[in-house]
Amino acid sequence: MFQGLLTRRFILSSLIVLAAVLSAPSLFAGTYLDSAHGSSSFGVLRPIIGNAPPSGFGYSQGNCAHCHEQHGSIQGSEPTPATGVAAYELFSQNFNSAVKTNPYAESDNFCFYCHNTPSSAQSVSNNDYSRSFGCAIDGPTTILSAMNLTSYHNLFDIWTFSKANFSWFTDYSNPCNACHNPHLARQNWNNAADPTFSAISKPDDHFNLWGTTETMDTTYNTKYQSPYCSGNLLEPAGSTDPAASRASTPDYVAFCTSCHTPTNTIYSTSLNRDLKTIDWSSTGDKHGLRVMDGSVSTKPPYDTPSSGTNFVLSCLDCHEPHGSENVMLLRRRVNGANLSSAITSLDGNGWGLLCLNCHIDDDANGSGGANEWEYVHHRATDAPYVQKQCGACHGGGGGPGGPGPIPCMNCHYHGGVANRADSNGDFRIAF
Ligand code: HEC
Ligand code: HEC
Ligand code: HEC
Ligand code: HEC
Ligand code: HEC
Ligand code: HEC
Ligand code: HEC
Ligand code: HEC
Repeated sequence: MFQGLLTRRFILSSLIVLAAVLSAPSLFAGTYLDSAHGSSSFGVLRPIIGNAPPSGFGYSQGNCAHCHEQHGSIQGSEPTPATGVAAYELFSQNFNSAVKTNPYAESDNFCFYCHNTPSSAQSVSNNDYSRSFGCAIDGPTTILSAMNLTSYHNLFDIWTFSKANFSWFTDYSNPCNACHNPHLARQNWNNAADPTFSAISKPDDHFNLWGTTETMDTTYNTKYQSPYCSGNLLEPAGSTDPAASRASTPDYVAFCTSCHTPTNTIYSTSLNRDLKTIDWSSTGDKHGLRVMDGSVSTKPPYDTPSSGTNFVLSCLDCHEPHGSENVMLLRRRVNGANLSSAITSLDGNGWGLLCLNCHIDDDANGSGGANEWEYVHHRATDAPYVQKQCGACHGGGGGPGGPGPIPCMNCHYHGGVANRADSNGDFRIAF
């Protein structure tokens, strides 16, 4: 009732404005027309409009009318998909907030009518981050299929969080738009070397693109090293030049931490708990700005620090933005190599497979097998743990080859602190 009233009032008040701009998209020139949706060659186009031929009713490719319908219809008949009147005069309901977890259906989100194949409006294929910028092959080929994997950014939780935190975000807003502005988003995957082709908008700066000038280079300079994509080619654009590569990478740390701050309490319906907070500052994680307190055994390109010993990683060096076959949105390809198998749990040592793509394990040190970590914890010159009273840490179990692994999650996680009984009685933050 309330929703119906509001929707109707929004439509009445915005009808005239929208009608005017729908026929004069030049008002948005330089922004909308530069966007992927506004492109006259590959932008929005619902080919099946009623019974009319492709791009019927005179609306050319890129026109606003392919997303916004006055009166929920175009010239009296409702084009496919026929879903009635919706907020913002969109052709369907913007977001179905009754759906609290995945799997999502096309009708749960306006964007899925296109970012899905085959779809009811306009089928658009997209790859995951590991493939678009990380040289992976295969993987999910639409945003809908990425969102329906093992782990995903829960759309209901993003919607709830954004309503409470960003003033422009309304009850009728779309959770995808917390990170994207559909009137501005550009085709980054096809122009990865040029940061002005950004696809994202920072939630607290929604009416601009993010990353056009705010890059990992401008914020961190040589402290940021782009990971490998394949061979000696670096992410995100396959260049061999570290400077050019970091200058093509948006500042994803600032982007992700506009929600994941050190203080925000964020509830996850999928995980059924509040999230750990993320602190990338010099008093937070070592993968962030905190200086290491020892040497590190890292693989190329991190083995020759141009910045001394204080690299800062981008969140998207390890995470996907939408969904993943691994838990916790972890990427399936990291630093130029696929993970050797999917990480389905954070129990045990299985997710050491992620660390393995950047850190040197026993295998490479010649003292054991792959994804075994005796060297860094016991044998390296500054290793944190002396080997005595094995059971105190390893428990009673274990086979002939060793005392058996300790769950990595006991010590390594965002914000994790591991007590280290070394000669100084120091503490070490272990992530
Ligand atoms: C009517 C169909 C349609 C709808 C609805 C739609 N998109 Fe798109 N979108 C497209 C097309 C077409 C492209 C450009 C295709 C390409 O790049 O191959 C695109 C491109 C994009 C891009 C730029 C990256 C890229 O792949 O080029 C982003 C980001 C994006 N869409 C997000 C959204 C979001 C968020 C929504 C919902 C608020 C949405 N889209 C709704 C059709 C649509
Ligand atoms: C890809 C689909 C798409 C296209 C194309 C599109 N819009 Fe939108 N528009 C949306 C969505 C989705 C919203 C709702 C925003 C939200 O979720 O908060 C919206 C919201 C709006 C609003 C409300 C204010 C705001 O920005 O949130 C106006 C005004 C608007 N659109 C005008 C236009 C005009 C004019 C054009 C063409 C120049 C256009 N739109 C093209 C999807 C689109
Ligand atoms: C938490 C933030 C966030 C949310 C929520 C989000 N995205 Fe994204 N999206 C990103 C980031 C980051 C990228 C990678 C940046 C790039 O492609 O340049 C991206 C990339 C994309 C791309 C381009 C992918 C490619 O490489 O081909 C599309 C299309 C897209 N998003 C659509 C959507 C849709 C539709 C939704 C909602 C179902 C959504 N996004 C929700 C952050 C988000
Ligand atoms: C608009 C706010 C917002 C932004 C921006 C955002 N997140 Fe989230 N994130 C959330 C919310 C809300 C949840 C809780 C729901 C859930 O678990 O998916 C979450 C959950 C997560 C999770 C746990 C996912 C799981 O398995 O349930 C990870 C990992 C994560 N975010 C990483 C990121 C990364 C990386 C970025 C930057 C690309 C980012 N987030 C940007 C709001 C945001
Ligand atoms: C070196 C790889 C790596 C980097 C870089 C990284 N993460 Fe994570 N992230 C992980 C792993 C592994 C987990 C699972 C362990 C945990 O929960 O801390 C995780 C978990 C998370 C979670 C879920 C925490 C929970 O409640 O369990 C969020 C949210 C998250 N990361 C956000 C971020 C953000 C934001 C950034 C960038 C500022 C970032 N991550 C950078 C590896 C990484
Ligand atoms: C994308 C590459 C990458 C991945 C994946 C990665 N790391 Fe790191 N890690 C680094 C880099 C680079 C450093 C050095 C940071 C610096 O210079 O401050 C580092 C530093 C560390 C340190 C600090 C060591 C010290 O002496 O202070 C720890 C602990 C660590 N990583 C643990 C892990 C664990 C556990 C995992 C797997 C869950 C992991 N890392 C995954 C790149 C990575
Ligand atoms: C203070 C805690 C601590 C003590 C005591 C300790 N370890 Fe460990 N050890 C670790 C940690 C942490 C790891 C890394 C996680 C893992 O792989 O289990 C590890 C890893 C190992 C590994 C490689 C993983 C595996 O299980 O195959 C071996 C072998 C090992 N330790 C042997 C020993 C032996 C033998 C002793 C006793 C003589 C011992 N450790 C005592 C903390 C300890
Ligand atoms: C009892 C706590 C504990 C457990 C359990 C543990 N670690 Fe560690 N780990 C540490 C500490 C302490 C360091 C020393 C680095 C530091 O200063 O943070 C470390 C360092 C590391 C490093 C960085 C090595 C380097 O210098 O390049 C990696 C990678 C790592 N651990 C992986 C793992 C993996 C994988 C597991 C699970 C199989 C695991 N750890 C279990 C405490 C632990």
